[in-house]
Amino acid sequence: MDQLIINGKKRLSGDVSINGAKNAAVAIIPAALLVNDVCIIENVPHIEDVSNLVTALNYLGVDAKFVDNNTLRIDSRNMENVCADYDCVKGMRASYYLLGALLGRFNRAEVSFPGGCDFGTRPIDQHIKGFNSLGAEVNLEHGIIQAEAKELVGTSIYLDVVSVGATINIMLAAVKAKGTTIIENAAKEPHVVDTANFLNSMGANVKGAGTDVIKITGVEELHGANYMIIPDQIEAGTYMIAGVITGGDVTVKNVIPKHMEAITAKLIEMGVKVEEQDEAIRVIADEPLKSIRLKTLPYPGFPTDMQPQMAVLLASVDGTSIITESVWESRFQYTDQLNRMGAKIVVEGQLAVIEGEKECLSGAKVKATDLRAGAAMVIAGLIAEGATTITNVKYIDRGYEHMVENLERLGADIKRVKQDA
Ligand code: EPZ
Repeated sequence: MDQLIINGKKRLSGDVSINGAKNAAVAIIPAALLVNDVCIIENVPHIEDVSNLVTALNYLGVDAKFVDNNTLRIDSRNMENVCADYDCVKGMRASYYLLGALLGRFNRAEVSFPGGCDFGTRPIDQHIKGFNSLGAEVNLEHGIIQAEAKELVGTSIYLDVVSVGATINIMLAAVKAKGTTIIENAAKEPHVVDTANFLNSMGANVKGAGTDVIKITGVEELHGANYMIIPDQIEAGTYMIAGVITGGDVTVKNVIPKHMEAITAKLIEMGVKVEEQDEAIRVIADEPLKSIRLKTLPYPGFPTDMQPQMAVLLASVDGTSIITESVWESRFQYTDQLNRMGAKIVVEGQLAVIEGEKECLSGAKVKATDLRAGAAMVIAGLIAEGATTITNVKYIDRGYEHMVENLERLGADIKRVKQDA
């Protein structure tokens, strides 16, 4: 297995171009199965989760392949299989979208129970509630979720909890259902909107995405589409924090500033200079920064997927900061690794108290405990005194393309080596 070695305290400056959004890509790629036609999806990031999904699609008899750097061609005209077994979907959370897409197209689906980052229990009861409401019977046998319906009929579904996955999965199952489906208490993330826009480009009738009430009017047929995925707000936020923590001057390009508002608002509150352009954001950290209180919330609140990265920044800022993680029951496992580097973080349930101190981090051997925690370890290595070695890099590969190259170009001393090196 590979590992990253970072020699810290190098100031980052320059531009970095942001890729397509992982959490939009992993929803839109399965959505292409809904149509007995060809879809061309542009701005698809080359990351592990996408590669795994492409493998799963080909396992289902779809002809899915990259036709150039970041453009994926998905031909679902010869699908022969509706069962995605464990081997082709293990380790990935987003495999559950295959359920909604296969159910939406064939009224039947069999998909292995999803994997993904360990934030405590990650139920899918709301997904199943949505499928049941549409008329599907859902069973779990030998780790495989089986869903089947004589006919999918539109209805009103109130989500007990704001769920990105359940919102998207119900949309996928409902676009060809008979009648109208209303999802209430829906998630409003940019990738929910992006998926709805993709479905509409295929001839679906989805209204209200981005609000907490989404109305889907079932249509008889869908057709192939060409679509470009939105930029990744979390990848962009990660590089912004990498620039800020090193006292640098970094511009993230190909972004939608509107999607970044919660992140930029907290950086401004800390004293970071933020310059917004049409499709870029520049962050400059040439003044001492302030500690803050932070609470993660569903969009448009501060994104939970930026919580570990912000914790590292706050650990290196003088003063006491408090983070409340309100989306996941247990998303602070990485703080043990950070405290090995000299951070002073105490976790009580969904609350982390950070006794921040400039220059407190020193290089150590740490591991990535999940995707965003891995990104946080990289950020910690950028500011730590001496060398930091990060193992379990496979987690980082799930969500970040060219991270080492991008950071090197910004001035970081980082390299990827084989574990036994
Ligand atoms: C998506 O996960 C993202 N993953 C996660 O990003 C992100 O952290 C999360 O949304 C919240 O924004 C993808 O999009 C592939 P949820 P998802 O359903 O859909 C509870 C990353 O780093 N819940 O919005 O699985 C759940 O336990 C990843 O890119 C139920 O109770 O998250 C959680 O507390 C990590 N029952 C809350 O809702 C359900 O049926 C939000 O979960 C579903 C969810």
